Amino acid sequence: MKKIVITIDGPSGSGKGTTARGVAKLLSIPHIDSGSIYRTMAYYLRTQDIKEEDGEAIKEALEDFHINYSEVGHVLLNDKDVEKEIRSRENSTYAFQYSRSPIVRENATRLQRELLEHGGILDGRDAGSVVAPFADLKIYLDCDVNERTRRRAKQHNITDPKEIEVLRKEILDRDDADMNKGDASLQMMPDSVRVDTSGMTVDEQVDAVYQLALSKMNQ
Ligand code: DC
Repeated sequence: MKKIVITIDGPSGSGKGTTARGVAKLLSIPHIDSGSIYRTMAYYLRTQDIKEEDGEAIKEALEDFHINYSEVGHVLLNDKDVEKEIRSRENSTYAFQYSRSPIVRENATRLQRELLEHGGILDGRDAGSVVAPFADLKIYLDCDVNERTRRRAKQHNITDPKEIEVLRKEILDRDDADMNKGDASLQMMPDSVRVDTSGMTVDEQVDAVYQLALSKMNQ
């Protein structure tokens, strides 16, 4: 039986990862977190001091780049658990910088397509537009910027109002950059379904997408 392919795109902090994880579990299909691929590539290249503009060096280094997931879903870079390192705020910035490199995007896209071969739910920025335009269901997850800031602050245990304001600015800057990345720009496709998660609990978010997936599968 052909397995369903679902894409979830949306801005940073809209809950793509949490929603995709929850829906994947309910449908018993793999969850492919494209951000983890970009984050791990950035961490790998950065620790070798390879610059984002150096396409040749990136290409060569990526020949020895292998990503896997542990049983608990942690990222394994060449068999080493790097989950904590790739999720740091510092590495978020690097992930964003390296994600502008065409060779990084080409490799990350190929990897995502390979992982989707047997179906799955893919979350990202260009999942429904570039990586899997053939998806059975495309979701665009949106959320108010103030709520996204609150979620990120909680995730990183930030309580100082000044620091929270810095975080909010980072999110707005990232939105702007994500929406202006040429072909890979974050965009809502004409065949996407928009789900606004502002004010929704995690369970409500998961359920909203799960119901959409069920009706697609029953069509
Ligand atoms: O979703 P995330 O915050 O884990 O992603 C980290 C960075 O990787 C984000 O700043 C942009 C980049 N990224 C991307 O360019 N394309 C994707 N499909 C996923 C992430």
